[in-house]
Amino acid sequence: MRVYHWIKTVIAIPALSLAAASALTFSTAGYGATDTAMLRKLPPDVTTAINQQIKDELNGAQEYLSLASNFYAINLNGFGSWYTAQYVEELNHARMMMFFLTDKDETPAIDGIDVPTITFTTPLDAASKSLALEEIQTERINKLHDLATAMNSRDAATFLLFFITEQVQEEANFKNQVDKLTLAGDDRAALLALDKDAGLRIIPPFFMPPPAP
Ligand SMILES: [Fe+2]
Repeated sequence: MRVYHWIKTVIAIPALSLAAASALTFSTAGYGATDTAMLRKLPPDVTTAINQQIKDELNGAQEYLSLASNFYAINLNGFGSWYTAQYVEELNHARMMMFFLTDKDETPAIDGIDVPTITFTTPLDAASKSLALEEIQTERINKLHDLATAMNSRDAATFLLFFITEQVQEEANFKNQVDKLTLAGDDRAALLALDKDAGLRIIPPFFMPPPAP
């Protein structure tokens, strides 16, 4: 909305009107409307794709909650806590996307969550499969950003940049786990030390949007 008003203001200045009109021409591709007021709305395809990503984030959260519960069940509570932190992170990703949609006057579609699929035999197996899951999430986020860019949805594309950076961190976290657990091998003392170390990971607070002005 602010951009729309700014455009109107610039075009209203007679001396700049011709140059501004040509410089400020932009595409409405993806919006399904030529009315520039529609530009503050998200392209429907982008809204649908973000709703799908919310579901994918919640599915990821459910996978990590399942892994955490399995670690707690075998008294590797440090890893249980580590995967609990990951569970909350994925919930927060979904919540950030949910609030982005509500800020854009959309009603997020909170769909059902799939049954977790990851099973594991060792902590290394769990970390390796989780890393593979994060690599899939990275690909999804990248495609979502590509879609927002192709649809000229600058607000969505900019919002999604956070998640592109976040995925670098997510993959690095799991790669770190994989590397250390590989190094530990069958050494049980080393495994218990890594479990203790994993328990130091801070569980993030529940994401809440800033209060409305
Ligand atoms: Fe995520």
